[in-house]
Amino acid sequence: MCGIVAYAGPNQAFDFLIKGLQRLEYRGYDSAGIALLNGDLNIYKQKGKVQDLLDETSGKNIEGTTGIGHTRWATHGEPNKVNAHPHLSQSGDIAVIHNGIIENYATIKEALVKRGHTFLSDTDTEVLIHLIEDIKQHEDVDLFEAVRLALNEVIGAYAIVIISKDDPGTIIGARKGSPLVIGIGKDKKEYFMASDATPIVEYTRDVIYLDDNEIAHIKDSELTIKTIDNVEKTPYIQKLEVTLEAIEKGGYDHFMLKEIYEQPKSIYDSMRGRFNQTDLTFAMRSLREYESKIKNLNRIIIVGCGTSWHAGLVGEYLIEEFARLPVEVEYASEFRYRDPVITEDDLVIAISQSGETADTLAALEMAKEKGATIYGICNVVGSSIPRMTDAGAYTHAGPEIGVASTKAFTAQVTVLTLIALGIADIRGKISKDRLREIFAELEVLPTKVQEVLDTCSEKVIEIAKRYKDVDHCLYLGRGINFPVALEGALKLKEISYIHAEGYPAAEMKHGPIALIDENMPVVVVAPKRGYYEKVLSNIQEVKARKGNIISIVTHGDEKVAGLSDYFVEIPDTEDCLVPILATIPMQLLSYHMAVMRGCNVDQPRNLAKSVTVE
Ligand code: M6R
Repeated sequence: MCGIVAYAGPNQAFDFLIKGLQRLEYRGYDSAGIALLNGDLNIYKQKGKVQDLLDETSGKNIEGTTGIGHTRWATHGEPNKVNAHPHLSQSGDIAVIHNGIIENYATIKEALVKRGHTFLSDTDTEVLIHLIEDIKQHEDVDLFEAVRLALNEVIGAYAIVIISKDDPGTIIGARKGSPLVIGIGKDKKEYFMASDATPIVEYTRDVIYLDDNEIAHIKDSELTIKTIDNVEKTPYIQKLEVTLEAIEKGGYDHFMLKEIYEQPKSIYDSMRGRFNQTDLTFAMRSLREYESKIKNLNRIIIVGCGTSWHAGLVGEYLIEEFARLPVEVEYASEFRYRDPVITEDDLVIAISQSGETADTLAALEMAKEKGATIYGICNVVGSSIPRMTDAGAYTHAGPEIGVASTKAFTAQVTVLTLIALGIADIRGKISKDRLREIFAELEVLPTKVQEVLDTCSEKVIEIAKRYKDVDHCLYLGRGINFPVALEGALKLKEISYIHAEGYPAAEMKHGPIALIDENMPVVVVAPKRGYYEKVLSNIQEVKARKGNIISIVTHGDEKVAGLSDYFVEIPDTEDCLVPILATIPMQLLSYHMAVMRGCNVDQPRNLAKSVTVE
């Protein structure tokens, strides 16, 4: 968690730092802080949002051409001003910002306390900067070397940036497990650092993604990168593709709403150029290169967290149906701590919007060690997962800023559909006629998504008005639409704080049915496909207990619609594509209910967009 930014160059740092923190606020918003070098080292911090920090700095000295900034998602120590970053060394001359966790901080702290150090905060980060200064003084080395030596003692994950009163114009950044991007500004005279590229894109398109165990040293406009073992590395400069418009709200009230409405495009982008309807072939390099491996696959294991895990569950139905290969879907956080049986004939697919989720990364590392081929489905270009996998496919959904995942989910499911079909094709499990039918439906999918957005919004607002004050909500779906129910429930609870549960519709009578009364809304995915008649029976069971039915039905359906208190129609499509269309009204329902309840939908309480700690 946490977002970090840094600047060293000829211009004032303050505006870049504040704007950058606002762009990174999705990563954590418990507190914010900045440090500026201008002869003195001035630190400003505040509990709460970046706006609170901005208010705090009003009328104060914000001069400085070298600076660092941080927006926090609390791990060690409660979210208050004292625990806010930047943290200072014992002398107060060196400042650090940190994203990650120093696992052995307690041991280091104990040793430092014995040497006379006193600590102001409860954070692991403060321990790190005290250690760096302690090494600098006792080993009589420069700041870079002190950082390098300290990082050799540290266990854990970090992206850090350090500035020092004694080294104006210098910033030192390092990473292990948490992301850090370096932007190279005009004439290589100014440098930016950030947790992702969004703060940087306005200033430069030339970036370097620091690798694990690398330390970047910017001093007098010169950049050097070394490993923590002191080996010099040649920086690999890449061009940023993300645009400024993509990371702004563009007239919408919230990023979440903008991202929901971007889905016709994001879904189109996620499949663009990946299949050919004329000759019924696939153009996915990651599949082509692994053709012989795919032919001999034993099974596929999909790992992910939260919404990405739900996409994985949809993937399980898709791959098993089309490619006839056994698939297991695992929470990355559980998988990494089991001792799963994995062989070289397994393919482990990690799904992650951010590409930085700590549990998913760790699960992949473990699978790689055990000899499996590892594959990534990620959205953020250049993030950690795509850089460690053998192969993969980007979702190309564009930046997702709202903490609740929306367009990333539908893009993940689209890519999984293509992967399932591609594997089926390679393994000879699908006929060309069937491929033709599904490709034709994929072609019109963005239009159908647009149709859902155009036609369901008013109805959803009406439903949201009726149910915005409920305490609980049940979501039901069967088969491939069961994960859709899970995703619908997650979306509602995370942004509206209404308790919601997703269940396979038939499981309802094994317990949750006891909850149903006239106050309980039950959202049912009930397309006129798959298990339609069976879902219809489940709906009857809810009605018999006076539950309220909100159904998502195929356009023109009368049976389910007739039984429902409210229904939202989606166009008919192939079974395998229903999850994408059915998800959209649920996203909108959560959004409108949350807004009506006065919740901050883009930054729900206690959450952060990328979970880079366990
Ligand atoms: O970046 P990732 O896809 O790996 O993130 C996984 C989850 O943290 C994420 O999907 C989370 O559940 C979202 N808040 C859901 O909207």
